[in-house]
Amino acid sequence: MIKIFADAEQLNRFAAEKFVEIAVEAVEKNGSCVVALAGGSTPKAFYQLLASEKYKNEIDWTKTIFFFGDERNVAPDSDESNFRMANENLFAPLKINDANIFRWQTELKDAKKIAGDYEDSIKAFFALFEKEFPKFDLILLGMGDDGHTASLFPHTEALREKDKIAVANPVGKLNTTRLTLTFPAINNARNVIFLVKGADKAATVRAVLQEDLQPEKFPSQAISPTNGELWWLIEKDAARFLQ
Ligand code: 6PG
Repeated sequence: MIKIFADAEQLNRFAAEKFVEIAVEAVEKNGSCVVALAGGSTPKAFYQLLASEKYKNEIDWTKTIFFFGDERNVAPDSDESNFRMANENLFAPLKINDANIFRWQTELKDAKKIAGDYEDSIKAFFALFEKEFPKFDLILLGMGDDGHTASLFPHTEALREKDKIAVANPVGKLNTTRLTLTFPAINNARNVIFLVKGADKAATVRAVLQEDLQPEKFPSQAISPTNGELWWLIEKDAARFLQ
């Protein structure tokens, strides 16, 4: 489902309503709502809105569990950290219990160890069998102007991972190793929501959604929940090339 919004404010409000709807249903059905958060800058205002007077009482935060779709290999208090951004704009304002937050333990420094430990924590939390993938109630994603999502960047090895849930992914162009959930883990979710804004992404949005399928070049094209709902929430400047 693609929805286009006049501005980021309206996009965030729709996303907040959707978040509430998914969370209330998940808690009613399964007793909890398990979310993987997006990083980057786009979701910041959305997290602030969720934590605002308008929405914060709509959700049972004691039954909401937070994971992260990806992370940079930096300290949790680094201004590059996706955990830090979520902590400052969502967890701290809502006083989320630490036990409800599963972050990538980047203080371990070694990317492969961080990813292996994170995969183990996901397997334990979801009580997964061998080769079983987690079923998140909601995975929030952003998209870079190169078509990456989470830390699944064009032409990187993580794009071809079919068995693991969480991996360390060397990203040559950033000269770093990122940490990310894999396509099979993301595509097993009940709901996936992309939040995309900014004129600089318009050409990529068009390529990803309306041009040839080239997931190595545009990894966001490979996000396709096998048995779940996919929402693209796009602010109008980022949607201006869509037919
Ligand atoms: C990250 C994100 C990444 C992000 C896109 C868009 O760790 O950076 O997970 O996938 O969603 O890069 O970033 P902006 O929202 O800052 O444009």
